[in-house]
This record gives sequence, structure tokens and C-alpha cells, in this order.
Amino acid sequence: MRVITLAGSPRFPSRSSALLEYARDKLSARDVEVCHWHLQNFAPEDLLYARFDSPALLALIEQLQDADGLIVATPIYKASFSGALKTLLDLLPERALQNKVVLPLATGGTVAHLLAVDYALKPVLNALKAQEILHGVYADDSQIADYQYTPAFTPSLQLRLDNALETFWQALHRPQAVVPSLTTQGAVHV
Ligand SMILES: Cc1cc2nc3c(=O)[nH]c(=O)nc-3n(C[C@H](O)[C@H](O)[C@H](O)COP(=O)(O)O)c2cc1C
Repeated sequence: MRVITLAGSPRFPSRSSALLEYARDKLSARDVEVCHWHLQNFAPEDLLYARFDSPALLALIEQLQDADGLIVATPIYKASFSGALKTLLDLLPERALQNKVVLPLATGGTVAHLLAVDYALKPVLNALKAQEILHGVYADDSQIADYQYTPAFTPSLQLRLDNALETFWQALHRPQAVVPSLTTQGAVHV
């Protein structure tokens, strides 16, 4: 099993990235190979000027093709997910998340924007043809005790993360009806 983790905060260290770090440690301790990506892997001008030939972008796309799942983390900015993350998601191919289970994670300064993942991020993940998008975890900043060094959360947030990661792990291992890639689909029709 291979999972991509993608940190969608323009900042590092960051609260939403701390959730991902926790997820990485938990999954690596099981049978999952985790490949980590963050926005700092990309040249800012490649994202801003939509350079589809960006070497980092092409490497991410290639890794995504072989991945079984994606965990994406974002801060809430202006009642939505981060604009910097959107500049990256915009450059992914239309079916980049086909056959993949996706777990969204988000952190915000207030619980008032809890639904931003549902009304803003999930439609984009759907547009990328994610096979299954799990409920995800939203944390407000007061639930994150440390994100600069070793991630530390309130017990209730840690429990929600553990439950979400268990659900994610089970979804990864569920037998899935794999949709052939477009090139394979062409071969099927011949
Ligand atoms: C530019 C900016 C806009 C923000 N807008 C919101 C917002 O609309 N709603 C909210 O709940 N928090 C908002 N926040 C707070 C962040 O979402 C919150 O601190 C988050 O945990 C930061 O995550 P990060 O450390 O991973 O970047 C905003 C923060 C910044 C810097």
C-alpha cells in the first residue's frame, strides 16, 4: 500500500502539517509506504503561472498514479481551503485521484468554518475523480498543543485522528473495483 500525504499550508511548521505528521507516523507503523509532499516542494512561480511541465509537479503526478490513497491537509483561509493548495490541485490531471481513497484534514482558528472542507475542498477532490472521500478531521487551533516540534493534540482530537486513520486504513484494504486508466480503457474497446 502506498499513500501520498500532501501538506497544503504555505507555512512550515504548521498546524495542519502537524496532523499529517501524526498520520504519517501512524500509517508507517503499519503496512503503508508513505510519500510526503508539501507546497515548498514546488517553485512558487510554477504554481502561480500554471507551469504544467514543472519537474516537481510531474514527479507528484507519477507518484499519485501508483498510490492507493491520499491524505491532504489544509489550513482554513477566508472560509475555504488555502489558495496555495488550490494552485497545485488546479495543475493535476482530471483523473489524478481515480481509484484512490482520500482523507481530508483541516485546521482553522474557529469551528465556525468546520464545513469548509465539505463545501470547498471535497468538490475539488470529486472533480479529480477520487474514488472515496472520507469524512475527514477538522481541528481548531486550541486543540493543537504543539506543532513546532513533536505534534501534540488534545485527547479528543487525537481520538478523532486515530478513528479517521483506522477508517482510512480499512478503506485502503477494502477490495475496490479498479477503473482502468484512460489508455487501458482505449485497449478495452478495441
Ligand atoms: C490569511 C489567513 C486567513 C485565515 N482565515 C481563517 C478563516 O476564515 N477561518 C478560520 O477558522 N481560520 C482562519 N485562519 C486561521 C488558520 O486557519 C489557522 O490558524 C490554521 O490552523 C493555520 O494552519 P497552518 O498552521 O497549517 O497554516 C486564517 C489564517 C490566515 C493566516
